[in-house]
Amino acid sequence: MSEIDVVILAAGKGSRMKDNFPKPLHEVAGLPILEWVCRAVRKIEPHKIIAVQSASEDFASYVDETVVQAQQLGSADALQAAFSKVDAEKILVINGDMPLVTGDVLADLVAKGEGFDAAVLTTSLKHPFGYGRIIPVGQRNVVEQIVEEKDATDDQRQIQLINSGIYLFRTEYIKRTISQVTANNAQKEFYLTDALPGARIVQADDWRDLLGVNDQKQLADANQVARKRINEQLMANGVSMIDPQSTYIDANVVVGAGTVIKPGTVIERDSVIGADNEIGPYAHLRENTVTGTDVHIGNFVETKNAEIGAHTHIGHLTYVGDARIGESVNIGAGTIFVNYDGKNKHITKVGDHAFIGSNTKLIAPVDIAREAITAAGSTITADVAEHAMGIARQRQTNKPEFWDRLPHEDFAQTYREKKRQENQAPDES
Ligand code: UD1
Ligand code: CA
Repeated sequence: MSEIDVVILAAGKGSRMKDNFPKPLHEVAGLPILEWVCRAVRKIEPHKIIAVQSASEDFASYVDETVVQAQQLGSADALQAAFSKVDAEKILVINGDMPLVTGDVLADLVAKGEGFDAAVLTTSLKHPFGYGRIIPVGQRNVVEQIVEEKDATDDQRQIQLINSGIYLFRTEYIKRTISQVTANNAQKEFYLTDALPGARIVQADDWRDLLGVNDQKQLADANQVARKRINEQLMANGVSMIDPQSTYIDANVVVGAGTVIKPGTVIERDSVIGADNEIGPYAHLRENTVTGTDVHIGNFVETKNAEIGAHTHIGHLTYVGDARIGESVNIGAGTIFVNYDGKNKHITKVGDHAFIGSNTKLIAPVDIAREAITAAGSTITADVAEHAMGIARQRQTNKPEFWDRLPHEDFAQTYREKKRQENQAPDES
């Protein structure tokens, strides 16, 4: 097969996002949209990947080469900016706002576009608003014209066949044709779609693969689809989820078989969760949380940069940051790993079988040895040796006959009665 250069169009202003943040760097399931696009295009083993960027962004770390489009004059102008870097026989062009695209759908375009000057990926959408519509030549799989939403007549807006923004071109053909594109349209832009008449139409099987992100709603939709795919993949590999809809797992996360994930759980970035864990409900496992087998992390526990050994329990209301925790450790409710001094992060180590009493503060850097104990309610600032117990709290004193010195409120009046009074008697003063 002939060699293909990929051009990712990513210089647009993203103005419909209304948020002053580069659209290609918005995250979907923990990865920038641009990274999703790059992962998909790498599957067709391109000769090289070129990103077209604006003068204010630099996407060099994602791709092989970048080129700046000086002014945002439209998608045809953007592709033209990349021509100086293209030397393969074919070009696959893709909008840089398509996080759900897969290698399979791109490979299909490459296969079915073979022998044509141009080919375009398409699908039918029930709600095609915003997309360019493809008008075919009669009943054939050939483009007569692509009309943008803003240029379309009411009749054309009824068309459900949309332009995905993914094209395959013979390089020689598109270099020759693109110079004929004019900006004679509603947006006064050079539309790449005006170079598409005559192109082969290639239908995608799953319309979701072709969803573009132009506004915040579409970003949320893309996240939902990506997360559903991630969860289904994990379940296929033996992970149990009580409620997949309320389980938020990033693309790079690994979860071992037999692990049960309970509702409201978030697992982020490059976390690696072992087999047979029980996670959640309402656990927040942030970047680089690594657990052994049979770990239990319960409700309202947040972890970050934490290694947690096999059979360890962290049941409730706890923050674990920059921690190296051994095997079969018990971390009591309300424990805080105090890792941050305002400038630097410090590490806390907890050895195998250690017992951390409830409401312990572990002020890092600090080492709790194996089979060591901290007494509940302690603020631990010094290392605790093997088999020792660290206790660091005030002794209790009781003040007798204190009751009458405390002001009391009458709780007999119900909340509803109070509300009724508030809402019926406006303040006249
Ligand atoms: C584009 C297509 C539309 C298609 C839709 C699919 C055109 C004219 N229209 O519309 O038919 O249905 O994608 O999602 O192409 N860009 C630049 N420089 C520019 C303008 C755009 O690099 O001067 C880039 C953008 O960053 C974006 C891509 O080109 O990645 C498409 O631009 P966008 O404004 O998102 O076009 P759509 O209106 O979505
Ligand atoms: Ca778009």
